[in-house]
Amino acid sequence: MSVVRDISNRKIAEEEKEKLEEQVRHVQKLKSLGVLAGGIAHDFNNLLTAIMGNTGLAMMNVPEDSRVSKNLNNIEKASLRAADLCRQLLAYSGKGKFVVEAININTLIKEMSKLLNVSISRKVNINYKFFQPLPAFDADATQIGQIVMNLITNASEAIGDKAGNITVETGTTDCTQDYLRNSYFDDKLEDGKYIFFNVIDDGYGMSEETMSKLFDPFFTTKFTGRGLGLAAVIGIVRSHRGTIKIESEEGKGTSFRILFPISENTYSVPIAEQEQLLDWQGKGTILVVDDDESIRLLVKTTLEQVGLNVITANDGQQAVDTFKENADKISLVLMDMTMPHLSGDEAFKQIQTFRTDAKVILSSGYSEQEATQKFNNSGLCGFLQKPYKPSDLLSKVKEIIS
Ligand SMILES: Nc1ncnc2c1ncn2[C@@H]1O[C@H](COP(=O)(O)OP(=O)(O)O)[C@@H](O)[C@H]1O
Ligand SMILES: [Mg+2]
Repeated sequence: MSVVRDISNRKIAEEEKEKLEEQVRHVQKLKSLGVLAGGIAHDFNNLLTAIMGNTGLAMMNVPEDSRVSKNLNNIEKASLRAADLCRQLLAYSGKGKFVVEAININTLIKEMSKLLNVSISRKVNINYKFFQPLPAFDADATQIGQIVMNLITNASEAIGDKAGNITVETGTTDCTQDYLRNSYFDDKLEDGKYIFFNVIDDGYGMSEETMSKLFDPFFTTKFTGRGLGLAAVIGIVRSHRGTIKIESEEGKGTSFRILFPISENTYSVPIAEQEQLLDWQGKGTILVVDDDESIRLLVKTTLEQVGLNVITANDGQQAVDTFKENADKISLVLMDMTMPHLSGDEAFKQIQTFRTDAKVILSSGYSEQEATQKFNNSGLCGFLQKPYKPSDLLSKVKEIIS
């Protein structure tokens, strides 16, 4: 005689509970990282804006063949890398800059190919297999570029000093709920048509242990690694409602597949042309509002170089008072978001009561979306993401006052 009890249901329930716990853990990690990234965005980006800005200004005023020019170049390079780290963290927490436009991934990768070639080992060969014609999808081009760059860098690093091959492949596919399930986070994705790109390498592959942790921020198996590359990738993919599939075998290689949904109504935004700024001379008075003295000074110096008049204010309240006194003289206000006493959005509202047509550019370390939400699209003229270079500042100001 024997007794048999079917415990499959209990097993399934246990597994589901484990999966749920894991997801809760991820979401919590993401939340705390969001707080960290927000702090970095505000303080660190202010510092970087000051460093990059002053360096840029110094470079304009030093002859190119001078020895100082080399040092300045290095400072700029280092701060660009620091800004890059910041960006990876922000991307992971979904707080990155977000400008949506219709993107053709073939074109985007083709445009990047030169950059990719110089950033990987010389013995590694990249093969491209572009599926034509590929539909466009809505995304932030810089962020998608960030994904491509991070994946190719990893692939090349997995190959190491040996000769090897990376294949970059694009295409479209129909995804069922079955296929989409088991994503890293419990994102409820919609089934339907997706566009994908694969990055496949014949490098050293990954162990199960590595596979289970690779998206964790700061997880790395490399001596020089920082462990932020794939963390940024997952953050970007999630904020675009996409997903990732990975296959890897130790000693054989790894394949990453990134999938994004194709929407029916993609729209495109024309990409602004790069203009010559140094010849430009502006006219008018700009009110610069920022609680950070180094930024005020930097912006003032930059704008004065092209002949503009600059008045500064240290916080929102001072901005309102200054605006009242000079309302008919001020052609543009450049306003920081987070300030003591009166924040940027409140100051903006009060300024609008004096002059409904007041022109205001907002600047912040937070992403454009997050920052402009507070303003409810109430007549803002533009947005400058910190850290910005003097040339970014000038082109924005030029666009609005001329
Ligand atoms: N193509 C790949 N082949 C093998 N291992 C990889 C690959 N991509 C990522 N990994 C593993 O995932 C880890 C995390 O990657 P990443 O987040 O980009 O950080 P980092 O490159 O700074 O180590 C790597 O250290 C590596 O162990
Ligand atoms: Mg990496």
